[in-house]
Amino acid sequence: MAIKNALVTGVAGFIGSNLLDYLLEKTDWQVHGIDNLSTGNRKNIAGQMNDRRFTFSVMSVSDLASLQGYDYVFHLAALPRIQPSFEYINEHIEANLNQSIHLIELMIKEEHFPRLVYSGSSAIYGTPQQIPTPENEKVDCLSPYAFQKYEVERYLDLISTRYPLDYVTLRYFNPYGPRSFNPDNPFNAYSSVVGIFLNRLKKGDPLLVTGTGAQRRDFIHVQDLAKANYCAAIHPERINTAFNIGFGSTLSILDLAKMISDEYEMIPEREGEAEITFADTTKAREVLGWEPEYQLETYLKKEVATINE
Ligand SMILES: NC(=O)c1ccc[n+]([C@@H]2O[C@H](COP(=O)([O-])OP(=O)(O)OC[C@H]3O[C@@H](n4cnc5c(N)ncnc54)[C@H](O)[C@@H]3O)[C@@H](O)[C@H]2O)c1
Repeated sequence: MAIKNALVTGVAGFIGSNLLDYLLEKTDWQVHGIDNLSTGNRKNIAGQMNDRRFTFSVMSVSDLASLQGYDYVFHLAALPRIQPSFEYINEHIEANLNQSIHLIELMIKEEHFPRLVYSGSSAIYGTPQQIPTPENEKVDCLSPYAFQKYEVERYLDLISTRYPLDYVTLRYFNPYGPRSFNPDNPFNAYSSVVGIFLNRLKKGDPLLVTGTGAQRRDFIHVQDLAKANYCAAIHPERINTAFNIGFGSTLSILDLAKMISDEYEMIPEREGEAEITFADTTKAREVLGWEPEYQLETYLKKEVATINE
């Protein structure tokens, strides 16, 4: 069996560490992970440090000197928080745009084009007009973060007109699952709402629902995202395109809160956030053969029961 060599950037983060678990479950994958630990946490990958098929370096993407030897690059490293991207603008451009461009430049310089699976975001649709939203929805970036994620997509499209880039963009909707909430992350107030709510329940604090709570989200389990990364990597052709990765159903934030706790409070809404996210996932199902498996309700019941024990 041929060994598949992968680089995972942002491996100590929420989605990166779950992707690592998923890849190492397959016996033919060897993974080198890098992370500068700006928002990630060593604890997230502690369980895999003894696996001989995994190596890890604390470093920034921009310090990578070569991509030789990798068949796949899963690029997850980023500062993925909407509200802070309005304030620390250059820091977010550096993390979300420039680091990605560095990977593309390395590929060009070395004339080596491993399959790049880029973690994009449904944030690029803003408040979409088509519900559920297909990939051809107009782009309407409501935050610097969304704009930076979109810029990378555009650079991939543009540079591939000159060089044989081989990439797949996965536009994630609203991920939840293990390790979504990192208590050491200075920006954790802006992490996934499911993780924030569960953490408040754990501390005995009321859940804080922004605005009316009527805003709806398409929640997708992080292991389903990992599976989408895997399907994108092993697709036999160079497809250079983007896919929506959501569950394909929605829940309001107020209903989510009620599923977790009776103790919740309403707080003012935050600007720059979409009213609804709802993925049309037909393309990912048809082209990648990907299907989500995890149900939010099942996950919540288990987590809430464990916390309330
Ligand atoms: N979580 C979400 O809600 C969500 C939604 C859509 C898209 N995404 C995308 O998924 C990817 C992963 O997000 P996440 O939720 O796991 O975030 P995360 O913050 O948990 O993980 C990102 C990781 O990247 C690392 N990192 C940041 N800058 C780096 C750099 N220059 N060099 C090396 N490592 C660096 C951080 O330390 C962190 O471990 C991001 O690209 C994000 O834009 C996330």
